[in-house]
Amino acid sequence: MASSSAFERIALEDFTANFSTLTEHSSVALGGTVQGVSDEFFADAFHLLLVEPAPSLKGQFGPKGALFSGWETRRHNPDYDWCIIKLGTTGIISGFDIDTAHFNGNEAPEVTVQALHSNKGTPPTVDDARWTEILPRIALGPSSRHLLKIQPSSSVNYVKLNMYPDGGIARFRVYGDVSPVRPQDAAEIYDMAHVFAGGRVIFTSDQHFGVGSNLILPGRGKDMGDGWETKRSRQPGHKDWAIIKLGDTGLLSHAEIDTAHFKGNFPESCELHAAHSAEFDTCSLPEDAWTTILPRTKLGPHRQHQFQLENIHTPYTHVRITIHPDGGVKRVRLFGRRHTDAVSQPSETSVKASVTLEIETSGPPASQAPTIHTPNTFVVPALALTPETFSPFGQVIQSYPDINAVPSPRNTKITGANQGTAIKYHKLAPIVSSYSAEAGATAGLSVYHCQAITLEVGGIWPVKVLERHPCTNQAFIPMGPSRSEAGEIGEMAPGYRYLVIVSKNGEDDRPDLKSLRAFVAFSNQGIVYDTGIWHHPMAVLEGPLDFTCVETQVGNGEPLDYLIPDAFGFFLSNATVATVSRSTAMTAPGLTSIRTSGEKIEIVNQLLLPHTTEWLPVDSIEQAHDAIKSMKIRGAPAIASLAALAIASHLTKALQQDPAPEYLSSPDALKAHVEPQLQYLYTARPTAVNLGAATRRLTKVLNTSIAEGKDARAVAQDLIVEGKAIDGEDVYRNKEMSKWGGEWLVEQVKKRGGSGDHLNVMTVCNTGSLATSGYGTALGLITYLHETRKLDTAFFTQSTPYHQGSRLTAFELISLKIPSVMLCDSMVGSLFQHKGIHGIAVGADRIAKNGDTANKVGTYNAAVLAARHNIPFIVVAPVSTVDLEIENGSQIPIEHRPPLEARLVRGALYPFTSNAQGVKEQATVMVTPEDLEGVYNPSFDVTPAELITAIVTERGVAVKAEGSNVFDLSGIV
Ligand code: MRU
Repeated sequence: MASSSAFERIALEDFTANFSTLTEHSSVALGGTVQGVSDEFFADAFHLLLVEPAPSLKGQFGPKGALFSGWETRRHNPDYDWCIIKLGTTGIISGFDIDTAHFNGNEAPEVTVQALHSNKGTPPTVDDARWTEILPRIALGPSSRHLLKIQPSSSVNYVKLNMYPDGGIARFRVYGDVSPVRPQDAAEIYDMAHVFAGGRVIFTSDQHFGVGSNLILPGRGKDMGDGWETKRSRQPGHKDWAIIKLGDTGLLSHAEIDTAHFKGNFPESCELHAAHSAEFDTCSLPEDAWTTILPRTKLGPHRQHQFQLENIHTPYTHVRITIHPDGGVKRVRLFGRRHTDAVSQPSETSVKASVTLEIETSGPPASQAPTIHTPNTFVVPALALTPETFSPFGQVIQSYPDINAVPSPRNTKITGANQGTAIKYHKLAPIVSSYSAEAGATAGLSVYHCQAITLEVGGIWPVKVLERHPCTNQAFIPMGPSRSEAGEIGEMAPGYRYLVIVSKNGEDDRPDLKSLRAFVAFSNQGIVYDTGIWHHPMAVLEGPLDFTCVETQVGNGEPLDYLIPDAFGFFLSNATVATVSRSTAMTAPGLTSIRTSGEKIEIVNQLLLPHTTEWLPVDSIEQAHDAIKSMKIRGAPAIASLAALAIASHLTKALQQDPAPEYLSSPDALKAHVEPQLQYLYTARPTAVNLGAATRRLTKVLNTSIAEGKDARAVAQDLIVEGKAIDGEDVYRNKEMSKWGGEWLVEQVKKRGGSGDHLNVMTVCNTGSLATSGYGTALGLITYLHETRKLDTAFFTQSTPYHQGSRLTAFELISLKIPSVMLCDSMVGSLFQHKGIHGIAVGADRIAKNGDTANKVGTYNAAVLAARHNIPFIVVAPVSTVDLEIENGSQIPIEHRPPLEARLVRGALYPFTSNAQGVKEQATVMVTPEDLEGVYNPSFDVTPAELITAIVTERGVAVKAEGSNVFDLSGIV
């Protein structure tokens, strides 16, 4: 045991001076977790990492004795007790706060702390030789906080806390500096304020109810307690502010200000200023050193506000957020890219404007292409539409799942309606006009039937026209698809998002492109353009959408009463300017397996695709189980997402019920209600482990929240947040693994003497947006190669008997406009003989510890042939598909589907015939003799690790060690 350690005790009153700008690496808010413990008989060690101070549980007893909020071990340990903690992020440790609150007479007498860095997937053991002592043996006193500073350690991500000989500790906080995580690609946009990226909150004017350092934590927190909140001010003109030091000098693009959980105490407005300084502490910077990047702007309750920033051509190191007059902000996200002189600016040829749009609005930050404002080039990100961010241009017409989130709650009248079956939000926007009386203009409703636009590669939309109405405001209310369209072959599913592009009027009475803003609106959001606001005609994404337009017109709008400048005249050349960022996702418009709106869940019925797009509501756990079991939804990640969302929806509805259901009467009643639901969902399909991983994750949150002493409603809230997170994180994971896998294959091909482009890649089954929450795994890899212009052709097998390939993968590749060729399952060998295939990418339903992989039946065949033809065979799957509980593939349960499924084929009658609604007639036919008995119909097979070249997760690529037939997956799980 190496030891290098001296320490200094710090007085409590000097906490702020010594610790306030450091990061609490161990906190659960950062993802700190207990990985192993010698004993936790009296009280569980996870308590050590909780954010809130330890409450006294004096006089409360459990089955083992007095209750303590902390870690307490049995008495009389002849040696010592230990607890291994994985820090929320890798970093340098320079101090501790060891708190023995309420342990008096049973406190731990002495402790030491050791640390190490390990990127193995499995946690280090107690006797790992790499443990280094960073805090020598020190004494602790009863019921008191011990602040300790040490020599800064090396960069570590595990610590071991040792108690000599045994006892109790309430809280254990490990402080230091984060080892920043940055994107490899300097052009990539990321949250430069994020704690993991090295961001720091270095000053707050007040943090009475919530500390400033919460502003840059991961996630959206779980309640009002984990944001930055200042005390109520009583002076007119009061304001509070906080200063964030970015993890790197950056060129900023846009920001997100999140007021989650602040429903009655959110700030009235905020503004952002930025500065460039070599100093760490910029509190004393003169005011003129600060540049406005977001002028004072209204905020609303309980939501994420995304703002495009101004004056962003110079690099900044610090950002100051000022809130008026006071209140709570949950998170601040500052998106930009590192300032490296190398990053090129687009060439200035002519005045151009375009919008970049991240197809997926879930997950990490919206646009990946930076905001560009040069005299002639305007590229703006499309950000989430909220009433506050749109207020300079008009109003947003929508309801609010949480009525406490309505904007300007004091001025918005909300009443029950329709005999209590509805909530009415009164007059969210007026219809106004300024026509002269003699014009005889009247207000009226028109309908727009909009077709979906097609974005350019990288999610770019060139803005070629803006219009305005000088005498009337104009409302657009989405009405959903016109029925006749839904389900047509090749016709897209109804759209549920659209672009809103606006700009203010300039001095020259033309659009002021500096004020150009773009938003993504959902089909449950209507907008009203204020009179005279320049705006882009309706641009619908994904699928056709109808709108009601409410405006005042003369007659039927005969004299066109709107102005369109000569289409920017000089803008007609359709070369657009925008950086194509590699990680910008391209998801087949309208192709998503699940869609949600509030607690409503719908799935596309994959049994009827591609010829019929039928959205099925999933209103209960039972319906979710049935949808999974009957394969109306399939694909390991997608079924896990549906299970998680079903639990979240179930509990969201429960929380809204009045009176509340019995199982919300107590945490134990809730546990007794939810646990069987989770076990039931887990039984829907046996092979795909992601489903189990999701139910286990929710079970863990259930137990943790209950152990934290939360009431049933708070526990239910935590489960809802976690359930949505399981779905929400999926797209980001898929993009990450697709990038890892795509780049790895390109390198492999180059190593084999190839050019690394014009690649032919084959896949099996369907692993795209329909099998996940978006983008896809193995099909994501193929999409990534297409996006980066490395792909020639995608080859895919039919994957009978369910035809995931011929029905679903074909549908996705066509929509993504990716060149592709289908082959029957029996033709793989012939393909490898006659076509230069550079790689095979497949998904997975369960990966054993040694790398043996279960996937759609037929995968093993392809692997054997790939080995025969020496073609790289890549498995692409999220970490949640790796099951470290099982050593090898022989232990993977293989689902056998009903024999009938292998005898039937479903599809559209051919030649096509359509019903009255224009929906193609479908039929199911039996291809076998009626009295056939013997049918072998396993749904999956297992490919042994020795036939697999690489396994890719969102954490990287694993290959087998030289001469080994198995994988060590520890580095990528
Ligand atoms: O029976 P399915 O269609 O659910 O099988 C799906 C697969 O085998 C996929 O390859 C796997 O689930 C990965 S999906 C990203």
